[in-house]
Amino acid sequence: MMIRLGNLTLRHGLCLAPMAGYTDSAMRQIAGRYGAEYAVSEMISAKAVCYGDQKTPLLARIDRAEPPTAIQLFGSEPKNLAEAARILADGANGGIPPVAIDINMGCPVAKIANNGDGSALMRDPHLIERIVRAVRDAVTLPVTVKIRTGWDDAHKNAVDCARAAEAGGAELLCIHGRTKVQMYSGDIDLATIAAVKSAVDIPVLGNGNITDAEGARRMLDATGCDGLMIGRGAVGNPFLFAELTAAAEGKAFTPPTLGERCETALLQLTLAIAEKGEFRAVRESRKSIAEYLSGFRGAATAREAINRAETYSEIEAIFSRLTQ
Ligand SMILES: Cc1cc2nc3c(=O)[nH]c(=O)nc-3n(C[C@H](O)[C@H](O)[C@H](O)COP(=O)(O)O)c2cc1C
Repeated sequence: MMIRLGNLTLRHGLCLAPMAGYTDSAMRQIAGRYGAEYAVSEMISAKAVCYGDQKTPLLARIDRAEPPTAIQLFGSEPKNLAEAARILADGANGGIPPVAIDINMGCPVAKIANNGDGSALMRDPHLIERIVRAVRDAVTLPVTVKIRTGWDDAHKNAVDCARAAEAGGAELLCIHGRTKVQMYSGDIDLATIAAVKSAVDIPVLGNGNITDAEGARRMLDATGCDGLMIGRGAVGNPFLFAELTAAAEGKAFTPPTLGERCETALLQLTLAIAEKGEFRAVRESRKSIAEYLSGFRGAATAREAINRAETYSEIEAIFSRLTQ
């Protein structure tokens, strides 16, 4: 389904979800090649940006070979979030500017939520509105938010939070169909996503457990959402975006061969090395790279070897043994 965000038009509403430790520039570039129309960076601490932390410029760097990409910030102080958005609005570390600033309102991890950030923001819709307004006032970029269904089953207030974000000026909203307490497992609550979609006028992306065209169709049909955000389903499987694009266009999709999977994995690693250098890229990409083999014979042994590999050549040798 078509979505407009700022100057962008997303023809099929196919988006790569933010995933700390996974959706680096390399993964975003690969997802874009296969049809992701929009991506969101790994979450970045607004405080760290404001205090000039050394690691954040690399995390916030967007390469021009990426699909349109938003920067995601986490924090809970409107002033901090606004200042961080302003600092990153023109691009970081020689990269291009983001297309939007996304605010993380869903992270359930203790060290984030116990600090009042991420999913803890959903306890206070009024604060959500203030945060979105402050960021919106600080930058000319569209502001977007990513929420969950609520804190727990007894506090499913996604509709209130979505309305608060819209009142503050958010231009797009993504909802992961789980509560904070569910973390990353359990059923996706399609009814709450549908309720959020009906409650606001801004585009809504449905998120959670989409791994194939059938799952994508189920999310769209059951919720009426405008587009899809895909996380784990795209790890080691950027081809999912090609599959969903084909489905949206009524075309056939041919799954990749093992050879194509290996080639794409090595390309992702090459891009990560260009971004971060070999030492860091190999270590940080191992788990993503190994996922390209899932379901193939010999995957478990290859995965173990990948987890020990320290250089590009070692990983290349593991893949070439598999495809011989
Ligand atoms: C390892 C991992 C890291 C994640 N990091 C982020 C993050 O930085 N920001 C965010 O908003 N969501 C994050 N998420 C949540 C995902 O964006 C997504 O909402 C969730 O995984 C459900 O979608 P999926 O089933 O398609 O993966 C993360 C999820 C995982 C598994």
